[in-house]
Amino acid sequence: MGRQSLDNQDELKKKAAERAVDFIESGMVLGLGTGSTANFAIERIGEKIRSGDLQGIVGIPSSERTANLARKLNIALTDLVTNPAIDLTIDGADEVDPDLNVIKGGGGALLREKIVAQASRRNIIIVDESKLSPQLGTKWALPIEVVPFACRTEQIFLESIGASVALRQDTDKDPYLTNQKNYILDANFGPISDPGALVADLNARAGIVEHGLFLGLATDVIVAGQGDIRHLRR
Ligand code: A5P
Repeated sequence: MGRQSLDNQDELKKKAAERAVDFIESGMVLGLGTGSTANFAIERIGEKIRSGDLQGIVGIPSSERTANLARKLNIALTDLVTNPAIDLTIDGADEVDPDLNVIKGGGGALLREKIVAQASRRNIIIVDESKLSPQLGTKWALPIEVVPFACRTEQIFLESIGASVALRQDTDKDPYLTNQKNYILDANFGPISDPGALVADLNARAGIVEHGLFLGLATDVIVAGQGDIRHLRR
């Protein structure tokens, strides 16, 4: 992708993020997503706290990276022990289908992101239009978090059900470690015809900690495109 279209994609991410932040009210407990699109939302939340437009906000970060950004912006942080119910979560996604099911985990934070999403009354997913997809798996391999001990056997299992699988690596070419010190297998299934059945298969495996299929969790999706911003609701 060229520099210009990257800049343009960032503009769209920012627009979607800012629209979502309009739904935040003072006093809310917020789930803070992870990734470049979620970062735009967190920056906007920081601005609104600084200007006094938002007061009494506390955030639950879905990753260490997000926690660091929130601290820099003076967003007060809490956790799910103190605040087990979240009013509103804003997070990005890698792929969104017409039923508002999504693939997440490109940034490696899928486990905490899913925990935060399932504790939230409202989950707003923010994307630029390149993330829309007719069928999950068309554009993105499915990130699957596994315990290191099970890494090889889970890879063999995933291959046996039709995926081509790559162990995610960090910049030093070591296995990428999640915030929980697990590994990620990126499993390319191609278009997934029955995501519910795949979820059942994955959930049945000891060794798979979590996967990036978020079915039925998004209440809203805000899509920023060239011409407009669309707000899709479940
Ligand atoms: C983080 O683990 C992911 O779920 C991200 O939310 C997702 O990969 C979208 O990231 P970008 O907003 O950077 O595209």
